[in-house]
Amino acid sequence: MSILIFGKNGQLSRALQRSLSARAASFICYGREETDLIAQPEKAAELIRALRPNAVINACAFTDVDGAETLGAEANILNAKAPGIMALGCRSANIPFIHISSDYVFDGKKAEPYAPMDKRNPLNAYGRSKAAGERAVIAAGGQSLILRTSWVYDGIGKNFLTTMLRLAKQRTELDIVNDQFGRPTYAGHLAESCLTALEAMPAVPTIYHISNSGPIISWADFAAAIFDRAKLYPEINEVSSAQFSSRTERPSNSALDIRDFERDFKYPLEAWDVGLELAFQETRI
Ligand SMILES: NC(=O)c1ccc[n+]([C@@H]2O[C@H](COP(=O)([O-])OP(=O)(O)OC[C@H]3O[C@@H](n4cnc5c(N)ncnc54)[C@H](OP(=O)(O)O)[C@@H]3O)[C@@H](O)[C@H]2O)c1
Repeated sequence: MSILIFGKNGQLSRALQRSLSARAASFICYGREETDLIAQPEKAAELIRALRPNAVINACAFTDVDGAETLGAEANILNAKAPGIMALGCRSANIPFIHISSDYVFDGKKAEPYAPMDKRNPLNAYGRSKAAGERAVIAAGGQSLILRTSWVYDGIGKNFLTTMLRLAKQRTELDIVNDQFGRPTYAGHLAESCLTALEAMPAVPTIYHISNSGPIISWADFAAAIFDRAKLYPEINEVSSAQFSSRTERPSNSALDIRDFERDFKYPLEAWDVGLELAFQETRI
C-alpha cells in the first residue's frame, strides 16, 4: 500500500514515517516546503489525483494555538479548507482518508472525559478552525476517519516535554498550570493507532478519540512526572490558567473517552507513562 502523508517534519508526520519504515510500507510525505497548503490548498486534491495513493493521512495543521488568534484566516485554510479538499479528493479517488483533530473542539466544561459524539463548542480560534475542519471532512462523505487527540508530544518537537526540560535547565522555579486536565499522547503511539485504524476503516465518516491511557492529569502533574524522570528538580509553582500569562482561553477538561477506539479496533492504547519513557529515549536536551 502506498500512503500519501500531508506533513513531513511535524511530530505526527515524523512518527508515521518511522512506523511505516519499520513496516517496509511505501509512503510519500508532503510538507510545507513541497506544497504550502495555506497558499494553495487546492494542491492537495491535485496531488491525490496525480500520485494515486492507496490512502491519505492528513498530519499537517496550523498548530500554533496562540498564533491562530491573530492568523485566524490562515488557520482556517490549513485546518478546515484543506482537509475538506483532501476528503473530497479521497472520495473521488475512492480511497480512505484519516484526518487528525483536537480536544480543543470542546469547551472543557464537561465533568467527564469527552465522548466522540459530544457537542463541539470551541473556546479559541484554533479550536474553531479544527471544528470547521471536522465539519468539512464529514460533509465531503467517503471513507473518512477523524481521530481527535490531545496533548501530543515527542522527544524532539516544540512541545511541553521539550519546553519543560529546556526551562528546568535554565531556571530554579517554574509556573505551571494546574487547572487544565487531560491525558498526554506520545506521537509514536498516535502514529501506530492511525495505522491500525487504516487497516479497518469504517465505510462512512466516523469520529474516534485517541490519547494515551492512564490517569487523567494536570499540566503540573505532567511536569512533575517529567522532572522526576529527568532527575531535574526545579520548584513547581502551581498556578491557575487565569494567573498564567496566555491570551488564549483553553479548555479545562481535555480528557477524551478513548474506549470506542479501543473496543472497535481491538487496540488497547498504551498508558501515558509508557509514552513518556519512549519520548525520553528520543530527547536530545
Ligand atoms: N500538538 C498537539 O498538542 C495536538 C493536540 C491535539 C491535536 N493535535 C493535532 O494533531 C495533528 C498533528 O499535530 P503535530 O503536533 O504533529 O503538529 P506539528 O508538529 O505542529 O506539525 C505540523 C505539520 O503541519 C505542516 N504544515 C504547517 N504549515 C503548513 C503549510 N502552510 N502547508 C503545508 N503543511 C504545513 C508542517 O509541515 P512541515 O512538515 O513542512 O514542517 C508539519 O508537518 C494536527 O492535526 C493537530 O491539530 C495536536
